Amino acid sequence: MQPDTPKRILENLTGAVLTFDTGLRLTSINPAGEILFETSAKKIIGHTLGELLPHSGQTAQVLQQTLASRHPFTARSVRLRLPGRRRITVDCTVTPLAENGEALLVELTQVDRLLRLARDEGLIERQAANRAVIRGLAHEIKNPLGGLRGAAQLLERELGDPALMEYTRIIIHEADRLRALVDRMTGPIQPLKKERVNIHEVLELIARLMLVEVPSGLVIERRYDPSLPELLGDRDQLIQAVLNIVRNAVEAMERKGRIKLRTRVERSFTIRHKRHRLVLCVDVEDDGPGVPAELREHIFYPMVTGKPTGTGLGLSIAQDIIIKHGGLIGCESRPKQTVFTLYLPLETNHGQA
Ligand SMILES: Nc1ncnc2c1ncn2[C@@H]1O[C@H](COP(=O)(O)OP(=O)(O)OP(=O)(O)O)[C@@H](O)[C@H]1O
Ligand SMILES: [Mg+2]
Repeated sequence: MQPDTPKRILENLTGAVLTFDTGLRLTSINPAGEILFETSAKKIIGHTLGELLPHSGQTAQVLQQTLASRHPFTARSVRLRLPGRRRITVDCTVTPLAENGEALLVELTQVDRLLRLARDEGLIERQAANRAVIRGLAHEIKNPLGGLRGAAQLLERELGDPALMEYTRIIIHEADRLRALVDRMTGPIQPLKKERVNIHEVLELIARLMLVEVPSGLVIERRYDPSLPELLGDRDQLIQAVLNIVRNAVEAMERKGRIKLRTRVERSFTIRHKRHRLVLCVDVEDDGPGVPAELREHIFYPMVTGKPTGTGLGLSIAQDIIIKHGGLIGCESRPKQTVFTLYLPLETNHGQA
């Protein structure tokens, strides 16, 4: 083993590793820990546990117990509150050490985002199977529909009586309507036209559009991370995906309420079994009544709607588009706080799904 191997291993671990002295002061933290705490090692080494984790009474107790008993300790799904009010769920392992004044080794693995996405990923697999059935069905509907429409047109030419032409017009009109519906159900089939996209420009365009559609009663708050790099994607399709989500939010709030648009990056994030170094996240939050409980597991399926006049296609199309960008849409919903999050990998060479 090279002398610096342990250090390199520590630096490349995806779990956060922290060491504390007997006074529960931080003595070291690896890069994954810096990412979790959103700070640099320099700033927090020497801080006490209480400073690192406000409201950490219970955690401090566990660490003290481990120090005293010298028995390793593991706890699953521990809720922690980080400075800045961020809440996370972690699996936590505490191991007593007795070297160089370092007394405790603490490993933290964030699990909440993994849990949430894993659930969404199961859904994606089912949705992919569904889409295959729908595509097949769409093909079977469109072929005879074309024949039907053509025959009605020929018939129309033969008809001398304008009163009878009314019937052929209805056939043609309804055939066109059905075809448009089938096209929407199968989602945008055009391949992605990738270009550099500034996601904030996309969000601003949508915000302006919504404020024109709903001139009063709607407040749109923005919290953008200005340091975000540009994304390689299909601008028009991304606009459509975000617009479908924002429009749902406006409809859910019955056009009165507050929408928050947030952007941020996540580092070292796994989507559909692939780990990405950098992922752009866009949150669309509304303070409406929340997704109806009976629909929660199904909203990304086509034709699932809670609205009397909805077609139930908006979210399935949005999800399709984001999957084609190598990403995923997740949703967390409760009354007064529904958040749809678009996860978009920032690598330039992501494959098409
Ligand atoms: N922000 C939200 N708050 C509450 N419910 C939501 C929200 N977004 C979506 N939903 C629920 O999910 C359902 C599916 O949404 P989706 O956009 O797929 O279809 P739709 O809005 O009903 O119809 P379409 O978008 O095709 O016009 C909605 O009918 C609604 O019940
Ligand atoms: Mg919709």
